[in-house]
Amino acid sequence: MTNENWVHMVDHIGNFLAPSMAKDHPNLPVVKAEGCYYYGADGKKYLDFTSGIAVENVGHRHPKVVEAIKDSADHLIHGPSGVIIYESILKLAAELQKVLPPKLDNFFFANSGTEAIEGALKLAKYVTKRPYAISFTGCFHGRSIGALSVTTSKSKYRKHMQPSWLTYQLPYALPEDLPQGADPEVFFPEKLERDAEKLFNHQVDPEEIACMIIEPVLGEGGYIIPPKAWLKKLREICDRHGILLIFDEVQTGFGRTGNWFAAQTFDVAPDIMAIAKGIAAGLPLSATVASKELMDQWPLGSHGTTFGGNPIACSAALASLEVMQDENLLENATTLGNYALTQLDEMKKRHPIIKDARGVGLMIGIELCDPATGKPDGDMVMKVLDKCLEKGVLFYLCGNVGEVIRMIPPLTVTKEQIDDGLAVLEEAIAELS
Ligand SMILES: Cc1ncc(COP(=O)(O)O)c(C=O)c1O
Repeated sequence: MTNENWVHMVDHIGNFLAPSMAKDHPNLPVVKAEGCYYYGADGKKYLDFTSGIAVENVGHRHPKVVEAIKDSADHLIHGPSGVIIYESILKLAAELQKVLPPKLDNFFFANSGTEAIEGALKLAKYVTKRPYAISFTGCFHGRSIGALSVTTSKSKYRKHMQPSWLTYQLPYALPEDLPQGADPEVFFPEKLERDAEKLFNHQVDPEEIACMIIEPVLGEGGYIIPPKAWLKKLREICDRHGILLIFDEVQTGFGRTGNWFAAQTFDVAPDIMAIAKGIAAGLPLSATVASKELMDQWPLGSHGTTFGGNPIACSAALASLEVMQDENLLENATTLGNYALTQLDEMKKRHPIIKDARGVGLMIGIELCDPATGKPDGDMVMKVLDKCLEKGVLFYLCGNVGEVIRMIPPLTVTKEQIDDGLAVLEEAIAELS
């Protein structure tokens, strides 16, 4: 098929691909990707500040990853890991043990973030023999019926598909709930204690709760960074009631927040973790991670997979971990994340449409509002994203009404590329507001 033909098909994409696929952004026809760039079918080069939604942490098609994929394909394409065993899956588990918090040392490999969440919830239910889960309002954990039961970021994800598993919700630590002048590190832990007590008194006894699941940084819900003390309080409440704490690190993992995992950034260790996205440089791979002690209680046959832990994906993940270390990508995420936030703080002073710019590492959210009313402005975000794309930079969005621009470049991004991307963002905002 010629380039022209398939690009023409994009205009009629609904005849081929299900329209239910998120189409938050115009589909950019792409022929190639490399490092921090996509190469469009239109012959233009696009700076990618989405990383394929926080996946390409080592940049697109890193040569070491490509080599590992080719080498693996020459030897073994498919397991499955429950029937045969291969070196890459064992080596990957051993390498991940080195970068995860201490007791998280046993792995159930799967293919997607949703599956890793599903595994985490099932493990928690199995081990505790308790029926229910608590999740946090605004969090996104995936769209399978189990994961959807704890996803509360948007009601459209649940409409006509409401999951039947009863779960309970506690409020996330949202800046809008902070009284003026209050210290978030004091206010939010106290509020959490009160909210949990109310829930336990009026709706569900904590002895019936298997797990609490949370995104340690609110992702799809608007890139909100909670106070450390709030997450520590959460750990404390779980310990008090024998509830397992699950961290959904699908988006925050693999250096995104400037540490290997947000658990380290916030110094709070969960009992179970779900990891995916940035794990294998673009190949589908994920894992439910827990201590050997917990996993040992999940007997043979109680969970399984055909494709999970695919040999090529595991090889790509090993290469990706090596690149992250060799190229000091955690440090780069911290340094350039801080640099970008400083630049954005300045930009905010020049453009009242920018309500807030916040982030941790290279997980940055830029919230837009109507300057007259201060109300979140999702329509403006869409216009800004389109304008930026026209000018050659791809951003993404998040937030309840799409009011936040997500800036999640590959962790290999340079200062010059940050400058280029932010200059385009400012131009777009200036032209539109
Ligand atoms: C925090 C979080 N959890 C879970 C998921 C689901 O992952 P996947 O789309 O790979 O199934 C996502 C996807 O965006 C996510 O951001």
